[in-house]
Formats: sequence, structure tokens, C-alpha cells
Amino acid sequence: MPPASLREHLHRVADWAADYRENIEQRSISPSVEPGEVTSLTSSAVPEKAEPMNRILADLEAVVLPGVLHWGHPGFVAYFGTTSNGPALIGEIAAAALNVSAMTWRTSPAATELETVVLSWIRQMVGLPDSFTGVVYDTASTGVLHALAAAREARGLDIRRRGMTGRTDVPRYRLYSSDQAHSSLEKAAIVLGFGEENVVRIRSDRDFRMDVEQLRAAVDADVRKGFLPFAVVATVGTTSTASVDPVRAISDVCRGHDMWLHIDAAYGGPMAILPEGRYVLDGAENADSIVMNPHKWLFVPLDFSTLYIRRPELLREVFSLTREYLKLDASGGAINYMDYSYQLGRRFRALKAWMTFRAFGRSGLESRIRENCRLAAHFANLVRSRSSFELAAPQSMGIVAFRFVSEGLDAETVDRINEGIVETVNHTGRAYMTHTNLDGRVAMRIGVGNLLTEERHLDDLWAQITRAAEIASHT
Ligand SMILES: Cc1ncc(COP(=O)(O)O)c(C=O)c1O
Repeated sequence: MPPASLREHLHRVADWAADYRENIEQRSISPSVEPGEVTSLTSSAVPEKAEPMNRILADLEAVVLPGVLHWGHPGFVAYFGTTSNGPALIGEIAAAALNVSAMTWRTSPAATELETVVLSWIRQMVGLPDSFTGVVYDTASTGVLHALAAAREARGLDIRRRGMTGRTDVPRYRLYSSDQAHSSLEKAAIVLGFGEENVVRIRSDRDFRMDVEQLRAAVDADVRKGFLPFAVVATVGTTSTASVDPVRAISDVCRGHDMWLHIDAAYGGPMAILPEGRYVLDGAENADSIVMNPHKWLFVPLDFSTLYIRRPELLREVFSLTREYLKLDASGGAINYMDYSYQLGRRFRALKAWMTFRAFGRSGLESRIRENCRLAAHFANLVRSRSSFELAAPQSMGIVAFRFVSEGLDAETVDRINEGIVETVNHTGRAYMTHTNLDGRVAMRIGVGNLLTEERHLDDLWAQITRAAEIASHT
């Protein structure tokens, strides 16, 4: 593409992206496409000849847009309501233009050092001690996998070299988390060879926090069976309700059994930026590793996830492996992030985070997180104001789990009505939320994390929910 043409098309795409952001509220959030419909709009044959950029860009509207669920729409409060924003978008474009790979310091000094810088900024903002070393990965799922690989190596069984299979000296590794913890733990257990069955789910209490006495009992029982309790994952901000496990009490149990404590603060960690939110990381200084996802709640778009680890040398022990062609690049004493990961090539993820944090400033990040919490509290008050609804869990951070209730109807019918309300609301195109299951019962759930969401959007959502509930309970 000749430079003049590149310039022209970049300007067009810049206008397109700015228009998209500016007018997103006018769009219907959920696409009305059926599976396979987007595929049918494009050729199944490989494009044989070069196509003009104008035609390709026209298909952004004609082929792609009809199949987009608009996560950035202010009425989108599903999952954790992740969001895009101007500075981050600009950072992504610049990173794409540079297209460097931060395997080693030499392959990209700027990407490596800015990664270290933004990791330090996040650590300072949430108040973690600087004894934690950070690494950026794509997702929290990757982060926990690396943390548990380090925890596995910490037992001194030389698993990196000798593996786990065919050995009689490797006990059954056991890992504990609450019944509310994220499924990424099972995925990590599958990949690392512990097996899904060895992730022990501990019952949570009425507020969906891990019951520490149950944890203690489960660990003791496993020790009696000759198993090896090696790690506990405490969650700060669970997926369904943003509940916060009692980290300090859990860390006491870990210390007693020499177990690794990993904190999954993928969602909830950034709450600790607020002075009034510091409680979420109480006891975190005792952890061995902590995951936080700025792409969930620190306004950095997908993907950008951080792992903080107290003994980074363990990650190196597992993952450092330098082939001849990289030896020169890897020399010189600077940090080479490839040594902390199974991944070799690494995007310049830090650029968008660096730009976002500078453009917002710490105070800007703080005020937006506080506003998200205020909006969630406002919505929880709306729920409380109606006797035909209840909070299904205490409102926590930006998350509200709630349900329609009716004494005159059986539980199954009420569950169906709750699911139906979510479907009805999502069909309007003006709002989008998700449901979950708490104590065996269906609950609706919103996550406020979108920078464009205002009180009026939640008021509108509430009006839609109550209307849908009225219709559903009379049919
Ligand atoms: C508490 C928690 N931990 C981990 C994850 C996994 O996050 P990721 O998509 O970054 O792997 C999620 C995803 O929603 C989550 O809710």
C-alpha cells in the first residue's frame, strides 16, 4: 500500500472509529443474525486477486457490523461491562503500526520497559508491596496457569525436567477454591496435568465467600489420604456476585500447610485503587501470586492481564528456555519477558495501558471506578424498592445480582420467568445483561464498568425489567 493510500485509509478508519464511538447509542446492541449468517455474507473461497481497500472497508459495514454485539454500548451491562475508550484505542493503533515482539529486551526495549513501568504503576495504585514482580499476559486464564506452574515447581519435584507421568514419587496434587471461583482453574489443572478432579471446590457462605473452616477440613482430609495440598485460589470479585473471599484467614491456612496462595483478583483488584476499596486486598501481601485484569475494570481494552508473583525466579525455572537464535538477543542482563511465559512472541500490550493511565491519571481512574460503584448501588436501590424483586447477593463493586420473586408461583416457574426477562430485555437492543445461578436458583445480573453508562441507562433498563416481569408473571 503506497504511503499516500495508507494515510487516506487510516484517516477513513479513524473517522469510522470515532463515528462508531460517538453514535454507538443509536445502534441496537444485539445483532439479529443467526449462526452462519456472517459467513454467508463473505466468500468461502480464498480471494484470488487483490481487492481494492475501498471495497474491503465497505464490507466492514456490510459484513462485519451486522454480526457485532456492541459491548461498548452504554446499555451493555453483561459480564463485567468492559469498555473501550479513546486513549486506549489510539494506543492499539500505534502498537499495530509498530508491530514489535517483546520477547526479549533487545527485540523491543520500549515494549519491555513500558511493560515494567505500567506493571509498577498498577502495583502502586492498588497498594501491593514492591516485593511482587509483574508480568503481562493476554488473560487471567493464562495468568493462573503460569502461577500454578510456578506453584508446582515450588514443591521441588523437578517436574519441568522429568514430567509427572510414569513416576511413583509424585503425589496427587490438590488445589482448592470456592464453589464461586472461575472455571479457568479447572482449565489450568487440565493443562498442567493435575486433572480437573483435583480442583476441590469449597462451599461458600451465605454471601458467597469461601468458608474457611470447610477449607481447613478439606485440606486435613486430603493430608490424611496422602494427597498433596499445594495451592489455594482465593477470589477477590467472583464472576457471579463480585464477592470477596476472606484472604487473610485463607492465608493462615496456606501458611500452616506450606500451600501456595493465589489470588484471582481479575475483576476486583482495581477496586483497591479507591481508599474505601482497599479492603478487597486485605491480606494480599501474604499471597504468592495475584492476577488482575485491567481489561475488566481498569479501562484498558482486551486483552491486558497482569500476574504479580513474589518469587519470579520460579517462573523462570519453569519457562526459561533459550534456543541458539535468541541467545544474543537474550544476553545483557535486562529483563526478557519470554523467560516468564510459555509464549515467545508477545504483543506491545503495555502501550495502550500506558496511554490510558496517563490520559486518565490516577484520579481519573479512581473517580470512574467510584462512579461505577455508585451506579451499581443506585440499581440495587431500584431492586430494593420493589417487593416483587430481591437482591440475590449483596451488591459488590459494580455487580448487582437480583431476581424476580413471587410467592404464588413455584420455583421452576420463577426461574423460567427470570431467564425470560433477560431474553426479553436483550431482544430490545437497548440493553444487554446476563443471568447466573446462585444457590440453585436463577438470578439476573448486571456489571457496571462501561465508561458510557449513565444513571438514565440503568433507569431505562429497570423499566424494561419490571415491564417484562409484569407481562411474564401474568402469562
Ligand atoms: C473471577 C474471574 N477470574 C478469571 C476470569 C478469566 O478471565 P480471562 O477471560 O481474562 O481469562 C474471569 C472471567 O470472567 C473471572 O470472572
